[in-house]
Amino acid sequence: MSDTMSRPMRFGSNSGQPLTRRDGLAKVTGTATFAADNHPRNLLYAVCLPATIARGRVAHLDVAAAEAHPGVSHVMTPQNRPPLQGDPSEKPTMFSFRIEVLQDDTVRYAGQPIAMVLGETIEAATEGARLLNPRYETMTPRIALDQNEPEALEPGALGRPADVEHGDMQTARNSAAQGIDVTYETAPQYHNAMETHAVVAQWDGDRLILDMPSQALVLSCAGYAHFFGIPAGNVTLRSPFLGGGFGSKAIPTGPQVLAILAARMTGRPVKLMLTRQQMFGPVGHRGATRQRLRLGTDDAAALSFIDHEGVSETSSFDDFLEPAANASQGLYAAQALRSTHRGVRLDVGTPSPMRAPGEASGSAALECAMDEMAEATGLDPLEFRLRNYAETEPGTGKPYSSKALRECYAEGARRFGWSRRPLAPRQMQDADGMLVGWGMGTALFPCPMFAADARATLRADGTALFETSAADMGQGAWTALAQIAADSLGLPIEKIEFRSGNSTLPDGGIAGGSGHTATAGSALDASGRDVIRQLGSMAAADPASPLHGADNATFQARDGRIEVEGDPARGEDLAAILHRAGLEQLEGQGSAFRKPEDAENRAMNAHGAVFAEVKIDPDLCQMRVTRLVGAFAAGRIINPRLAESQLMGGMIWGVSFALHEKAQHDPRTGRIMNADFAGYHIPVNADIRDLEVITIHEDDPYVNALGIKGVGEIGITGTVGAIANAIRHATGRRIRHFPIRIEDLL
Ligand code: MOS
Repeated sequence: MSDTMSRPMRFGSNSGQPLTRRDGLAKVTGTATFAADNHPRNLLYAVCLPATIARGRVAHLDVAAAEAHPGVSHVMTPQNRPPLQGDPSEKPTMFSFRIEVLQDDTVRYAGQPIAMVLGETIEAATEGARLLNPRYETMTPRIALDQNEPEALEPGALGRPADVEHGDMQTARNSAAQGIDVTYETAPQYHNAMETHAVVAQWDGDRLILDMPSQALVLSCAGYAHFFGIPAGNVTLRSPFLGGGFGSKAIPTGPQVLAILAARMTGRPVKLMLTRQQMFGPVGHRGATRQRLRLGTDDAAALSFIDHEGVSETSSFDDFLEPAANASQGLYAAQALRSTHRGVRLDVGTPSPMRAPGEASGSAALECAMDEMAEATGLDPLEFRLRNYAETEPGTGKPYSSKALRECYAEGARRFGWSRRPLAPRQMQDADGMLVGWGMGTALFPCPMFAADARATLRADGTALFETSAADMGQGAWTALAQIAADSLGLPIEKIEFRSGNSTLPDGGIAGGSGHTATAGSALDASGRDVIRQLGSMAAADPASPLHGADNATFQARDGRIEVEGDPARGEDLAAILHRAGLEQLEGQGSAFRKPEDAENRAMNAHGAVFAEVKIDPDLCQMRVTRLVGAFAAGRIINPRLAESQLMGGMIWGVSFALHEKAQHDPRTGRIMNADFAGYHIPVNADIRDLEVITIHEDDPYVNALGIKGVGEIGITGTVGAIANAIRHATGRRIRHFPIRIEDLL
């Protein structure tokens, strides 16, 4: 750790402030323009017709009836769909899937678009779609994990994790004093951002303008351009605001491609906005998993092995797997570690990344298994985790870039009151006779960085413009990014204009993997520092500057000036340097960067510990999560208000995963029966009681120059297991599937 401290880190005055969202006023007053708020002249409305069977073919569509509707202008089916230039079964970018765009009359999952109707009004298009009245030839759908054989899918691209094995599993297994062999199942979940997928598409010759929510603006342009045989640079994607995304808006989808195609076919702007029901199928989901966990310990309760086998669903035509078993790599010290992934092809839409893909499901099972193993050893669950604390990354032996997990355990446990927990289950009751249980789980999420660029322009009036195509899903990314930008020039945030949400700006990368602030933030920081470097050279070379002759390497930007570090009296205003040079403005460029040797040699994760209290009615078995305390160490926190809100949101999703969310298929048709917010349960305010988030300070000089890890997804991990373990502690019942429902405890 002394090595850590010897690397200097820069801290500005805007970062660390709990600023409110810069777009908050626009959001709450309704002036923020979302994709579907655009109404270009001569607009046509598109409505998808989703399949109501999961497997078979469309035998008949009453196209004539739909076309006879006076407000319907076109009906697009596999029979008349204009050709696409790019093969929809090809994946043009790393964030691409095979998409369903009326290639043929085959139905591969319920909710698959089987026609698109265009109308002069949304009502006409909706009515036209209803009039199509499809008839199907049906086959028995396979929608449960046991309805097809698990296959090994070739690892490589997104969602196809490799099998990993470290150490000698056989020896470790033979030497273990005791072990468990347990299987956990998680349910399919659907993203359901508040804003459903939408697009307003306009063609101008072979140029395309898209108003579309996107988590990866420039990458999305390349994806959509592929299908239409145009250069990515011909696509302008505007995504100023998103009403959430959770991963589903990083990837081109079939319905959106069809709407763009409809715009080209008709020569008119086309708007499509999926209904809530249509979100269930063609735009990704978190696939169901079945996870077998075998753990063993020696006499001293040290883990001999963790063997984590994941089986998860994928579609019949693509290959994304929920990489759940990865959760067992990198967390607990064990002599031998193994994780495998197998896919089961089902008649469902292709699963996709969904907030904490892999880790959410994997951590749920792993943290329960750890609780079961702790119980077998007779140890307190926290004590058991501490005994198996990894000082270096298990398997690889790499040092962590930073890891304040011990502090998370200690602080979380202290705030929760964990030391008062009775070891045995079913020992606590509250004054109302409710069974009370306490459980905990470890949180972990990696901290990737993607490629991103940014541009900074310092202006003569002392203000600055920062530009990058970053995506703000609603979490406040633009606010945190503007704080970083302001610090890079040493300016107050009021002097910063931040322009984003348009693909024509420098590529801000992907808002995914919890890496957006680290990625786009690093690029912004570098662009601002590029300005300072240029100004510093100008000043150092100018006899009229107080900085003349000083070493540029010692310059720092602060309070609108460049100062010599350690000699702040020696400095000059940024605007003065510009002015003397006769410049109206000065531009800097920057890119996201992580030192390759650090990326290679260090294990990089955010960590946390989550403690849960549940109260359960002993007769009705109704469950309440009455307290959640999460302590997280995620590197440098740029905006504590927004970071805590992200961590809190993740923990709430943990409640949702543990107790609520499940897409319920009708086994006969393969349709999702609860494809709406009436039947697809997520927590409401009344489900969330006392929720506390603690952030633990962590200086990490390796992850990036700013020491930022990421907070978007880690909150789910740890929480799900903590709740299930609390239910076990309250009731003595161990439930090995999610969500856990009343009927499981009856
Ligand atoms: Mo996320 S599932 O990386 O948006």
